[in-house]
Amino acid sequence: MTPTADEIREKSYVELLAMLGESNLPPGGLGTVRDLVINLHLRPGIEALHAGCNAGFLSREVARRSGCSVTGVDISPAMSEAAERRAAAEGLSPLVSHECQDMRHLKFPDESFDVVFSGGALAFVLGHREAVDEMVRVTKEFGLIGDTQLYYSQEPPASLLKLVGDIIEVPVPQYSREYWIDLYRIDALQPYWRDDVETNAVSDAEVEAYARSMVSRCATSWSPAAQETLYERLHYVFSAFNENMKYLSCTNYVYRKAKPTSEPALFI
Ligand SMILES: C[S@@+](CC[C@H](N)C(=O)[O-])C[C@H]1O[C@@H](n2cnc3c(N)ncnc32)[C@H](O)[C@@H]1O
Repeated sequence: MTPTADEIREKSYVELLAMLGESNLPPGGLGTVRDLVINLHLRPGIEALHAGCNAGFLSREVARRSGCSVTGVDISPAMSEAAERRAAAEGLSPLVSHECQDMRHLKFPDESFDVVFSGGALAFVLGHREAVDEMVRVTKEFGLIGDTQLYYSQEPPASLLKLVGDIIEVPVPQYSREYWIDLYRIDALQPYWRDDVETNAVSDAEVEAYARSMVSRCATSWSPAAQETLYERLHYVFSAFNENMKYLSCTNYVYRKAKPTSEPALFI
């Protein structure tokens, strides 16, 4: 069944990208993937959870690089199903698997995973504290938690924040670098590693070409009206994200889970 122009207009951003199978890389792109693989010490035998896995690009890529097993969870059934299909198509099942779960209320028992990581999904979650507490709960003692977060290093116009918030359907407060560091400043976690990485906006021509290429890749069998609606929608969304990128910077983090009393030390 090919969608009509009206159906394309009505889809949320997450549903639209799930339908198109667009890969959502973490902030910082492949550099962040490499940072997480290395600094989370991922390797065969490690059981990792990918929280807010989207279409599973990061799940698959870290498993390919390291040989660890990855369970990805996403609140969107469309996303977890798309991720599951991609992992199977790329020959990564059952090393990489995905489930529809809310990262604020995970169904896994305490201390289920050696490593928990996220590719910046928290910015899309309503309830950061609950989500981080759950990530900590399901991590084994002495396990590692990795994340990457975008934050505004320059003040964005209020109209841009509203535009992006309307697209992702979550309000976009002006997170700072310190906001994300404070979120993980809890007794059970010790800072283990941190790196500030580059983010790069692209030209308008690159945004247009990318939106056109997605239409050619995914929608050639659709009606001309549906193809044009898709192009307009993608161009609108990616132009807004690209404009937003000009104000953003990115930090990658790893934390170590340990009881504060286990081995007290002043200089950790
Ligand atoms: C834009 S993606 C970020 C993915 C990231 N770039 C990566 O590489 O993993 C954010 C994802 O968080 C998911 N999400 C939002 N709220 C969630 C929740 N409460 N639990 C699990 N996933 C959630 C969304 O459905 C979306 O797929």
